[in-house]
Amino acid sequence: MPAASSPELFQQAADVLRRNDMGGWTRAAPDLYPHQWSWDAGFIAIGLAHLDTGRAARELLGLFGHQWKTGKVPHIVFNPGAPPDSYFPGPEHWVSAGLFPDAPPAPPYTSALCQPPTHAIGAFRIWETAGGDEKDTALGFLRELYPKLLLWHRYLATARDPEGSGLVTIYHPWESGTDNSPRWDAPLRAVEVGDLPPYQRRDLGHVDEPSERPTDDEYARYIWLVEKIKDARCDEARIYGSHPFLVKDVLFSSILVAANEALLEICKVVGAGPEREEISAWIDRGRNALASHTDPETNLCLDYDVLASSPVRARTVAGLAPLIAGSLDGNRLARTLDTLYSEVFLGHPRMRRPLPPSTSPDEPGFHPRSYWRGPVWPVAVWLIWWSLLRAGEHKRAGNLRQAALDEFSAGHFAEYYEPFTGEPLGSDDQSWTAAVVLDWLARGE
Ligand code: SER
Repeated sequence: MPAASSPELFQQAADVLRRNDMGGWTRAAPDLYPHQWSWDAGFIAIGLAHLDTGRAARELLGLFGHQWKTGKVPHIVFNPGAPPDSYFPGPEHWVSAGLFPDAPPAPPYTSALCQPPTHAIGAFRIWETAGGDEKDTALGFLRELYPKLLLWHRYLATARDPEGSGLVTIYHPWESGTDNSPRWDAPLRAVEVGDLPPYQRRDLGHVDEPSERPTDDEYARYIWLVEKIKDARCDEARIYGSHPFLVKDVLFSSILVAANEALLEICKVVGAGPEREEISAWIDRGRNALASHTDPETNLCLDYDVLASSPVRARTVAGLAPLIAGSLDGNRLARTLDTLYSEVFLGHPRMRRPLPPSTSPDEPGFHPRSYWRGPVWPVAVWLIWWSLLRAGEHKRAGNLRQAALDEFSAGHFAEYYEPFTGEPLGSDDQSWTAAVVLDWLARGE
């Protein structure tokens, strides 16, 4: 497909979101992901904000309608209308309402995991984008969502960080959103898989080649971890005491810091007061933790394996977490930018365009076609671009946006792209890809 002009591309991206609109919520992709995914919804709201304030607001309000009693926002809300063999593990596998006392009791059912909290970022973007006569809609929306966002962030700051470390613990690579990143290789290797019920992967039927998806060995571990969470009835204390995968995720934690900054802005808009100190303390704690988990040798922030009591050494885009968390002093910002633009990432001589690959091509676990092991993900590029803007790096942000639009303008709206050739991979018509393209086009810088 030839590259589209900006108005054409805007229209094509809007059409993807319309086609994936299931009536108040958006499926992540037409076939591979027929349900609503949590962190996708935050990005999708950012795209929808440029089309229809009310509809963008419903995307997040709908998702938060399935929030658990604990405050957790589930990583998938299952579409009751999706054919039972379209996605695995689906609602019948999770049986969440039957097994988990904190899950919403009525269908649609949810998974028991969560994902990075992009929602406050999306919610504030809806407010910022809303024009004159939409401001009231946006204000009503923020008032309704604010207490739910607060509960969600408090859940992450407490149940998911019982040590008060400033870093969120994940129970499953799916919670990171970066499922097969080399970040999880060592902690997953340590998981001993027991007897698993027979299951059939559905994801492989929706991509051109199995090498674009995680391996069967990784899936066995993924499903085993799901079984362990089901065994623990998703009781956080039981999971913390016995689960074989507990990792402090720096990318997740940095998104939480940025989301807490957005939450503070939302506090100002809705006139909330008493919680501001609590939220500010979460931000400080998160930033300090990210600083202390940055490896002085590579200048990359490292995840921390709680069970092995050791940092996880892998050169991935997650290493740039402190940039996403924001407020780096001049020296740290300069060093982080050096790393981003070095031959390890953007400046790697084989990169087709100067865009951050999900995993450094120099990393032993790198694979240019395999999901989070190397491909360029438009949403990860958006996070880095947005972080550059927040850091006042407008020229760099502008160049990154241009490279992204050049790379993603052929109309596929692919889930991810081969870093050396630009080939679209994974699912086409991925909602969040369309959403970030809309945001780039609408923002114009
Ligand atoms: N990303 C996972 C999948 O590929 C689930 O969140 O199904």
